[in-house]
Amino acid sequence: MTGGIAAYKACELTRLLVKEGHEVRVVMTDAATRFIAPLTFQALSGRLVHTAWLDATAEAGMGHIELARWADAVVVAPASADFMAKLAHGLADDLLSTLCLATSAPLYLAPAMNRLMWQHPATQANGAVLQSRGAMLLGPAEGEQACGETGAGRMLEPAEIIALLHGKGLLYGVRVTLTAGPTREPIDPVRVLSNRSSGRMGFALAAAAREAGAEVRLITGPVALPTPSGVVRSDVETAEQMHKAVLEALPHTDIFIAAAAVADYRPAQAASHKIKKHAAALSLELERTPDILAAVATASPRPFCVGFAAETEDLLSNARTKLKNKRLDMIAANRVDQGLGIEQPDNALEVLWSGGQRSLQRAPKERLARELIVLIGERYFQTRDTRTS
Ligand code: CTP
Repeated sequence: MTGGIAAYKACELTRLLVKEGHEVRVVMTDAATRFIAPLTFQALSGRLVHTAWLDATAEAGMGHIELARWADAVVVAPASADFMAKLAHGLADDLLSTLCLATSAPLYLAPAMNRLMWQHPATQANGAVLQSRGAMLLGPAEGEQACGETGAGRMLEPAEIIALLHGKGLLYGVRVTLTAGPTREPIDPVRVLSNRSSGRMGFALAAAAREAGAEVRLITGPVALPTPSGVVRSDVETAEQMHKAVLEALPHTDIFIAAAAVADYRPAQAASHKIKKHAAALSLELERTPDILAAVATASPRPFCVGFAAETEDLLSNARTKLKNKRLDMIAANRVDQGLGIEQPDNALEVLWSGGQRSLQRAPKERLARELIVLIGERYFQTRDTRTS
């Protein structure tokens, strides 16, 4: 534990872990002991609490290296901004930071801090560095904070932390349907209208949702990508077929993520024979395709709806308009230039919802997908809890 008001939740976390039959050794930083007395954790864990570093008596009991070897998992809850910074730089000037450096056990961090501290580029960068080294960030959640502000920074609830430690994932048991890839609208038997979408973001999201424990259906246009393991895949060609497949999946969908680049228009009449090049010019009459996402968002009952917006200008205002007009719960907007977006391995996203916004920094689509799935999961549970309470 590091110092923070969320330390009170660590009492419940300790109690639940012990109740499940785990052996828990509590290590507290000096700041943590100012929030809750070590005696409380001694009573809850049934063991002496470790606070001192380089203390001859304490090291004789179980020193920092032995503690690091003993643990099957190290969970820092709450993890303060200061502690994340320290760890990102490999500092080891107290028992907890030394232990985290010296352990080969999986390291979990449950950040808890004021929303501006969490959003600060320094904290975000530290989190990204720690994740890239294999540390797993559990949360933080959005919501009301002890400081009176509302936003991302709350420590996850102890039961949520335990579910994540069990590998059950944030979306355990939640049914997620995704669309991905381009659609192909026939002009004649050999030609199509399509776009450059590779499907990679949609497939990465499907994999990340599955990793987070969801039951995942992926409805995809033509792409050259393998099906992520554990994902149920349906292949379609046209917007019309995608629309039909999505509506069929709707009764089994809690979260709908529309990552497909659906053609907005299709040839009004597909020629039944190959069009010959007799004329000097050729006009095609196009008609609108069904807006799948808008149809799902206006269905009743409706799942939690997440849309994508690829924009070349006025990113935020266009995305906010789409969020509102299509009645979405969340929209992920990306700029399709500067080597980002369509056909590119990297992406960067501005994620918007009613009353909130988060920037996901440029990263490979796989990593971005994991971050987006966490955000979707948190918002999904919050919206659901508000609706049902
Ligand atoms: N979408 C959909 N069905 C369509 C068109 C789009 O489900 N027929 C979904 C996409 O999967 C994406 C979002 O809607 O999640 C994109 O919104 P849209 O307003 O269609 O974006 P653009 O096509 O970029 O719109 P515009 O050209 O108006 O900017």
